[in-house]
Amino acid sequence: MYCYSTSLNSMNPWIKKLPIYEPGRPIEDLANELGEDPRSIIKLASNENALGPSPLSVEAIQRALSTVHLYPDGGNCHLREALAEKHRLHPDQFLMGNGSNEMIELVGHAYLDQASNIVMGEPAFLVYKLVAALFDVGVHAIPLKSFRHDLDGMLAGIDEKTKIVFISNPNNPTGTMVNEEAIDEFMGQLPAHILVVFDEAYIELLSPNVQPNTIKYVQEGRRVCLLRTFSKTYGLAGLRIGYAIAPKEIIGLLSRVRQPFNVNTLAQVAALAALKDEDHVARTRDLVSDGLKYYAASFKKLKLAYVPSVTNFILVNVGSGREVFEALQRQRIIVRPMDAYGLPEYVRITVGTRDQNMKVIEAIKKTLNHKCLQLQADSPRRK
Ligand SMILES: Cc1ncc(COP(=O)(O)O)c(C=O)c1O
Repeated sequence: MYCYSTSLNSMNPWIKKLPIYEPGRPIEDLANELGEDPRSIIKLASNENALGPSPLSVEAIQRALSTVHLYPDGGNCHLREALAEKHRLHPDQFLMGNGSNEMIELVGHAYLDQASNIVMGEPAFLVYKLVAALFDVGVHAIPLKSFRHDLDGMLAGIDEKTKIVFISNPNNPTGTMVNEEAIDEFMGQLPAHILVVFDEAYIELLSPNVQPNTIKYVQEGRRVCLLRTFSKTYGLAGLRIGYAIAPKEIIGLLSRVRQPFNVNTLAQVAALAALKDEDHVARTRDLVSDGLKYYAASFKKLKLAYVPSVTNFILVNVGSGREVFEALQRQRIIVRPMDAYGLPEYVRITVGTRDQNMKVIEAIKKTLNHKCLQLQADSPRRK
């Protein structure tokens, strides 16, 4: 007789230690809790595009809806060709994924074993740590310097077991960037056995003249993998589509460890259309740049320390990030508390529309005034 047991004894022991990624709170969740209409909730917690998707993407999705009984193009041919043209590379130097998150995991599949370690900044995008834990490898987390990646420190953190260095540039959650000169210097000193993953999820938010050129390393056949996404600037986070740019041999490795149809049809057509909509990208950049200026000026007035950002989010010190996060939720606003990133005093706020940004600042003012009054009330009277 077979005995079916729910015992976890046979599982990989390190899986139990795996933390579960805590995403930004969904709008519906908070709307249910407050008994409010979801349309009244402002979500600025996951660095999505406040303008929404390009109208061209929406039209392309509508046209493709009646074809979803067919499997998608497993080779993502049109999209890789369009990207190759845009970046002046060959389609074989691209691999599409189910968000750039999937590419981070694929890199792990292709390169990591239990004897290896990764090097990353601290704090940086949490998924690098999750993927390291998934493959049970060590993490050399190198503290940022003035909220920026410390590339010299990262070089010093490399040892003979290091397989991958992750550089989130611009970095999430700080919104800071290391420039091309610093990257060139870093690449000049890098041991040859290391794969550098430049996670450039937010790069298109920068105007092209200030985007560090990392594509040149792909052209030179260096051991690099650039990660890009359609979730941020292109407003397609809900469709899950991102990609890797790397020398052909590296793309070949990543292709071996992916699922055959990892990118769905609607994501493919929407992304292709988004690439053609330069106006939407320009409008997004303008919205973000105005929003960042507004937040910076407002935080200065409120005397709150913030980290100057080049992305569509901003990190601000509000004393207790968790308390302010909860207070803002009661005012129908979702931001991101930063305790999971080791920054318990901070919240990270995605740049929204002008109206949304103003509501956030009003809600922060109200919350901090209220806290201040409470502190005064609680403190013992002076005699
Ligand atoms: C630095 C960074 N990399 C990757 C991602 C994941 O993006 P995607 O939606 O393409 O999986 C994010 C999302 O927040 C991010 O901030």
